[in-house]
Amino acid sequence: MHYLYYRYLLKVLFNCQNIEKINLMKRIPLFTILYLFIFSSLFAQGGMWLPNTIKGNIEKDMQRLGMKIPADDIYNTTKSSIKDAIVQFGGGCTGEVISPKGLLLTNHHCGYGAIQRLSTVENNLLKNGYWAKSFKEELPAKGLTVTFVNRIEDVTDKILKNINKNLSPNEKQSLIDKNIDSLSKATVIEDYQTIEIKPFYYGNKYYLFVKTTYKDIRLVGVGPEAIGKFGADTDNWMWPRHNADFSIFRIYADKNNLPAGYSKDNIPYTPKHFLPISVKEINENDFTMVFGFPGRTQEYLPSIAVDQIANKLDPVRIAIRKAALDVMGKYMREDEATRLKYASKFAGIANYWKKWIGESQGINRVNAVEKKKEMEMEFMQRLDKNPKAKDKYGNLLTEFDSLYTAFEPYNIAQNSIYETFYRSIDFMRVMSYLNRLKRYYKNNGEKAYNRFKGRLLPYLRGMYKNLDITIDKNVFTALVKKYALESKPEFVPASLKNLKTDKDFRDFANNIYNTKFSNYKYLAAIIDTINIEWAISMFEKEPGFIFAQEINKISDIKVSPKYNELSTNINALQKKYMKALMEVFPEKSFFPDANSTIRITYGQVKGYHPRDAVYYEPVSHIEGVIEKYKPGDYEFDLPQKFINLYNSRDFGNYTDKSGSVPVCFIATNHTTGGNSGSPALDAEGNLIGLNFDRVWEGTMSDLYYDPSICRNIMVDVRYILFLIEKYGNAKRLLEEIKIMR
Ligand code: ARG
Ligand code: GLU
Repeated sequence: MHYLYYRYLLKVLFNCQNIEKINLMKRIPLFTILYLFIFSSLFAQGGMWLPNTIKGNIEKDMQRLGMKIPADDIYNTTKSSIKDAIVQFGGGCTGEVISPKGLLLTNHHCGYGAIQRLSTVENNLLKNGYWAKSFKEELPAKGLTVTFVNRIEDVTDKILKNINKNLSPNEKQSLIDKNIDSLSKATVIEDYQTIEIKPFYYGNKYYLFVKTTYKDIRLVGVGPEAIGKFGADTDNWMWPRHNADFSIFRIYADKNNLPAGYSKDNIPYTPKHFLPISVKEINENDFTMVFGFPGRTQEYLPSIAVDQIANKLDPVRIAIRKAALDVMGKYMREDEATRLKYASKFAGIANYWKKWIGESQGINRVNAVEKKKEMEMEFMQRLDKNPKAKDKYGNLLTEFDSLYTAFEPYNIAQNSIYETFYRSIDFMRVMSYLNRLKRYYKNNGEKAYNRFKGRLLPYLRGMYKNLDITIDKNVFTALVKKYALESKPEFVPASLKNLKTDKDFRDFANNIYNTKFSNYKYLAAIIDTINIEWAISMFEKEPGFIFAQEINKISDIKVSPKYNELSTNINALQKKYMKALMEVFPEKSFFPDANSTIRITYGQVKGYHPRDAVYYEPVSHIEGVIEKYKPGDYEFDLPQKFINLYNSRDFGNYTDKSGSVPVCFIATNHTTGGNSGSPALDAEGNLIGLNFDRVWEGTMSDLYYDPSICRNIMVDVRYILFLIEKYGNAKRLLEEIKIMR
């Protein structure tokens, strides 16, 4: 094992800074003991735990790393606890309550949509920022909701009641669904609460969540986009980082403090708990924890699956997105108006493009596939010593091998079709929506058509506003060519079979894009007709529509059936494998994969070695913002007010021991998408930062967490407070929060 890694483990264990001074060779027994301790111990680092399950072992490990509070302060159903300050924000992010008046903190990129909807050309809140000077000026963000988790209950026994080996997979599932349904109905909740029951460990366990959703959420404060998104796509997924990824909202409630739709009579929500904010020093190795709603991880896949994702699937997805980004980027560089129009689309596609590159490289760099194989070997060796277990689980890995081998072409085809035709080519997406309109009409009649139409038209209006048909045609040409030439022949539709040269593909694209359907008004008028039969006959004459139907057919006939069948079998096997792992490695602690439920993860502030001879320190400072500043650049420009503030060095109480304002920091917390906006808490449960990203070298943590290079990125709360006070002059907000010095 790597020396640095040993050093790292020692540091983690003993907070020992001078490990290099220990003579390694003379300490072999110590290392052996340590090695055994670490790998036979519960805590291999990483993990996102359900907060109701940490009491005991996890709590002790957290305290060993420096936590000073008991698990009861984190999750409690008899008194208020930290979980009462954490919300799922707008479905996909996390937020937290930071004042007794329901003030809510989340990321800039999480509030982005809501702020965009509140912006107009004359009053562009995204660009200029916004600071409400009174409650009255707080702006209702229609459609935005936040959800608290009131309690969590292990309901495995009730959900898996009467499930036995003799049932077929379908029978099992329908019995489970029935049990979920009846338990949901039998559970007593308040009328403003909702219930959710979800599988964990691939269905080996079930938990019930009682939740409360607030619906009147208002924008309170946000800095200009240039500061919040500073560095944009270039810096995205990277360390060192220098953006203030925060925005501030407030929860409003009715006069009983209960959820209610927007009303001018609603009042600021009084929380059960709010997070105090600490502006104390943050040092390397300090304990931190992150509380939030991580979306999805796959930590327990077999080696063959990880290999497939990192070495087969990711490269395909990366190449398709790169082809799309290359075309868009070329036009965006040529013209400022185009750049604005395409910025958000580009960022959306670039985000996971970049993430997958990091993931694929990271998996290979830390030899994750090999390490998984080693673990699988040990799994088999342990089975050899236990005939009963071997009987049950001895074939698991070979079954995985054959299933994943069969799955690979379908997995790639399914993803290629999605990435090519639905993700990056707007006009093809429009065509597939028309196809859906047609299907709704044919299968469910006029009402179904009109219901979908009602949602589709406003969506299309917004989409066409940011659609440049020439760019889209060129994306189409590039991607369709790639698809036609690189896919397995059975997945290539007849109309593409004879196309070979660039000109062939250009002609094909010209034929599809030479249409009045590229005009929103024209298209909307057809969709919106009372004569639906006629509308559909118009769709059916469109070359783009005909092509989309052809693609749909390939997908429906050649890809989906096999893809779905194999996925179902893989999932069933994965459930068994999960159970087997827990039985065969009883000394290990297994956290359930992320599934958008509330979790706590913990670690320490730490730098890392991204590559040979390079060390990244764990904290960035405001000097770094100025270092990256490029006047006029679309990613690295700054408002003059910020420059002035910097030049005056008017940093208030928000400097650290270096005399400068800390901007971002990194730690070993295991996070993923959905953890955006999650609070980073110190050993006492005070807010010290706001999670918003991971480092590029560690994005493989969704598949394989490696403590040597996986880091989450947070904005330092001192940078946030500095901007609130000095940039936003929003002292009224500072008065309602609780600051620990
Ligand atoms: N990488 C961060 C998260 O997934 C931030 C994404 C938003 N920023 C951007 N430049 N696209 O998802
Ligand atoms: N930016 C991500 C989000 O939107 C968090 C980063 C990550 O995937 O770790 O949730």
